Amino acid sequence: MSRQIIIGGNWKHSMTEADTVEFCEEMKPLIEQKPTSVKLIIAAPDLCIHILERYFGKDDRIEISVQHFDIGVSPTTGARTGATTLNQIEKSESNIQWVIIGHSEVREYSHIDNRYINQQLLELQESKSGIRPILCIGEDFDIREQGTEVLKDYLKKQLTEGLADISAEFMKKIVIAYEPIWAIGKKTDGSAKESATSDQAQESCNIIRSIIIELYNQELADGITIQYGGSMKAKNAEELLSQTDIDGGLIGGASKEAQSLIDITKAAS
Ligand code: PGA
Repeated sequence: MSRQIIIGGNWKHSMTEADTVEFCEEMKPLIEQKPTSVKLIIAAPDLCIHILERYFGKDDRIEISVQHFDIGVSPTTGARTGATTLNQIEKSESNIQWVIIGHSEVREYSHIDNRYINQQLLELQESKSGIRPILCIGEDFDIREQGTEVLKDYLKKQLTEGLADISAEFMKKIVIAYEPIWAIGKKTDGSAKESATSDQAQESCNIIRSIIIELYNQELADGITIQYGGSMKAKNAEELLSQTDIDGGLIGGASKEAQSLIDITKAAS
């Protein structure tokens, strides 16, 4: 079955509004080069979304994502300083079509767990807004060192708890990003981490697909897009993306430059 290939840029907290203008100016002529078979999403900081919208909101070659929303907050639940709600995202004047759910950095720094992530997914399922989640899962180095069985159990727990009461119908809208924490971002000395090898990434994405078969069914699992994330860049993208169970990438550092992001979309086609 042919699956949708999806490349997502995850800008995290690193881009300012001025950086976003610069990126968009660079991207304007380059977007022509994006293969039509590859969907491109950019998850921008909330403050930068309006700029992406201004440049690409009416252009379906780049779809806009937020990086998180807070659960259990509605216009009637009282004040919550600092929160961004699904209601606000839905009603945004920007055409926000995606949200990253459960990125490991949000799990760690905002202390959210699988239960919280499940509540986010249930809010999205309930809202019928059409906003699609990119659900991030992945292990830290301790788990990886304990071998494949422990890894499998860990990924299964993240998926089973995160996807509790998620219908097969809504599951078809979810993209899963496999992001081993040990491969994401930079080392403490500021140098880039190594990505997982293509074999390691393939093995984990295959495990994820088999868990989806157990939780749902073969057909659904065959159709779902599973991205790999963790130090993917133009140089290693082709090899990672040529693996049978890897249908895209979620890219942090290498997504901040328009040329590098476009090169990754080319490697994906
Ligand atoms: P990285 O980040 O590409 O900078 O490792 C990936 C991610 O966190 O989504």
